[in-house]
Amino acid sequence: MPVVRAVVTGAAGFIGSHLVQALVAGGHDVLAVDAVERAGSREAALANRAELAQAGIAVTEIDLATDDLSRLAGADVVLHLAGRPGVRSSFGPGAADAHRDNVIATERLLAACRGARFVLASSSSVYGSAERPCAEGDRIDPLSPYAASKALAEQLAQANGAAVILRYFSVYGPRQRPDMAFHRFIEAALDGSPAPLYGDGRQSRSFTYVGDVVAATIRAAQVPLPAGTVLNIGNPHTVGVRDALDRIGTLLGTRPPTVAKDAAPGDVTRTWAGTDRAAALLGWTARTSLDEGLAHQISWHRARRKVAHG
Ligand SMILES: NC(=O)c1ccc[n+]([C@@H]2O[C@H](COP(=O)([O-])OP(=O)(O)OC[C@H]3O[C@@H](n4cnc5c(N)ncnc54)[C@H](O)[C@@H]3O)[C@@H](O)[C@H]2O)c1
Repeated sequence: MPVVRAVVTGAAGFIGSHLVQALVAGGHDVLAVDAVERAGSREAALANRAELAQAGIAVTEIDLATDDLSRLAGADVVLHLAGRPGVRSSFGPGAADAHRDNVIATERLLAACRGARFVLASSSSVYGSAERPCAEGDRIDPLSPYAASKALAEQLAQANGAAVILRYFSVYGPRQRPDMAFHRFIEAALDGSPAPLYGDGRQSRSFTYVGDVVAATIRAAQVPLPAGTVLNIGNPHTVGVRDALDRIGTLLGTRPPTVAKDAAPGDVTRTWAGTDRAAALLGWTARTSLDEGLAHQISWHRARRKVAHG
């Protein structure tokens, strides 16, 4: 593939930082953008940015919701991962953050980068709870301000750009955000202090390894696709949260301690990725097994604790 000028937003984020590294390793000319102050965890974003800096990759500070975006025009491809993720935190005051960083930021970026190929990171949460594998043409049912903000961002992208919309399903792996379940569970096991377990733990998810998500995102930027294509990017094998806890316990030799909490608002019972379209149009399927992906994530937690504790 020829070297393209790619803008990656959310570059100091969990998924975005891996994406930037993969694109740079592939020889692409990348402008990595983030507004670290807007991250749900500033500490995590700073650590990711520092890791990129060590690899010789600079992240340009631009707040997509307020700053001048003219220097982003002229990109061949825009991979838009910046935003305010998280279902639970989007209720109450968090709703305004979700709107600002998921909707306003997307609207402004689309306007600034008209003509570029635009890949939008959306979310499985737009489907609500799944009773069977979700297909991209299914009716959506956003059950949280976060899901609603992602649905709105999708509509803006459909209306304004040559956009491809990727609905990511529960991503995990090294650098996973500290508010996410596997991160909390692994830290709880390593610390011996309990992590909250929301609801009855019977929820299940299409947990998807970050390396697979990055591979799909790069394919979506390269493969010719009709504008407005929506693709589920998820592992079609769903796993229960309790089962995941058991697997983490087996890998670590100690089951993460948990403390029961009420079901969180907007927390759906099941997500389930139907991936026929991604397989047909991208030639992509998730390859990494949960055990393999969890082992990578656990190694990352151990390495970072070693650095922190000297
Ligand atoms: N992690 C998942 O399981 C998952 C699932 C579905 C969808 N997604 C979507 O994928 C994308 C990346 O998720 P993540 O888990 O890596 O999140 P993350 O919070 O780690 O990364 C998002 C980054 O966006 C940046 N950002 C926020 N607002 C900004 C703004 N106004 N201008 C510039 N940068 C801004 C943040 O500083 C942060 O570094 C998000 O859009 C998220 O909604 C993630």
